[in-house]
Amino acid sequence: IRYIGVTGVQTCAIPILAGAYPLTRPRRLRQAPFVRDLVRETRLSAGNLVQPLFVAEGDLAGPITSMPGCDRLTLEALCETAQRLQTLGVPAIALFPVIPQGRKSDRGEEALNPEGLVPRAIAAVKQAAPQLGVIVDIALDPYTTHGHDGLLDAEGYVDNDATVEVLRKQALLYARSGADMVAPSDMMDGRVGEIRRVLERDGLHRTLILSYAAKYASAFYGPFRDAVGSSANLGKAGKQTYQMDPANTDEALREVALDLDEGADIVMVKPGLPYLDIIRRVKDRFGVPVAAYQVSGEYSMMQAAIARDMLDERGVLMEALTCLHRAGSDIIFTYYAERAARWLRESQA
Ligand code: PBG
Repeated sequence: IRYIGVTGVQTCAIPILAGAYPLTRPRRLRQAPFVRDLVRETRLSAGNLVQPLFVAEGDLAGPITSMPGCDRLTLEALCETAQRLQTLGVPAIALFPVIPQGRKSDRGEEALNPEGLVPRAIAAVKQAAPQLGVIVDIALDPYTTHGHDGLLDAEGYVDNDATVEVLRKQALLYARSGADMVAPSDMMDGRVGEIRRVLERDGLHRTLILSYAAKYASAFYGPFRDAVGSSANLGKAGKQTYQMDPANTDEALREVALDLDEGADIVMVKPGLPYLDIIRRVKDRFGVPVAAYQVSGEYSMMQAAIARDMLDERGVLMEALTCLHRAGSDIIFTYYAERAARWLRESQA
């Protein structure tokens, strides 16, 4: 066998062998499980997954209509879930609070309540499942009556710098309450740097920052907004003045570069599956830990088809997660984390 040249575009040269077929038969590598196992390039494990969880109190707890199979958990159910996840080898959860309307305000003050739901939930999880990493969202939308991630100025525009002031206090409070990782999901300019500085000043050198760096203004967040009760408040208003235009890709690299510069430890691309090209570009360009968020709309879309027997749950889910991992995300936020971890364990047994 001798090489006679290369084919393909320059970035991906494939050697061609003289007289390829039948000397070369790609199917040889696919003929049986043993060889498919040996040559598999991407291996998903429970260790790659983060389980987002909604926490609520009183009447607000219960099933989420827009996300069949997901619940708003009481603190007690949250702790039980945390223990199961820890046993299954899922390394971390991401907490999302459901705040009663009566505690929301136009300035979202409840976000800074030291006795609020998030500080209490962090403490409860830490007690129940000490090894599990706790990631908390930094943004104001669960707390504001208008459903935006930040504060509005007199014209109703989301005021960047005033919002960052509150976000840094929110991040400090949750970090002091024991969160391992704070995850600003608001897309304000300069918030990662401000949060890093306030954490450093407080001696919280080990608190990680996972920044939602390339977060798009996506229609796929609809079911989540129902889950936390922000969609009615947000009404027809969109988040396009702060979240990114789905048509853009260079802008994502710029956002990621800025957040890394400001001290982000992990960067996220969100949503997941429709944005695989962004994940790949970020991974190739920066070589840092990348997270992807398989968001509520991706989840509900699959659940809807599965419920009607149009798709096989395990098949589509494992494929979608593998593809997110293959595209370059080390970490995947998915509402399916617990189910996927169980399936992964079964397939290894
Ligand atoms: C809020 C936030 C959102 C999600 C995570 N954090 C919604 C939004 O930006 O409107 C979406 C998660 C999902 O859809 O699963 N800052």
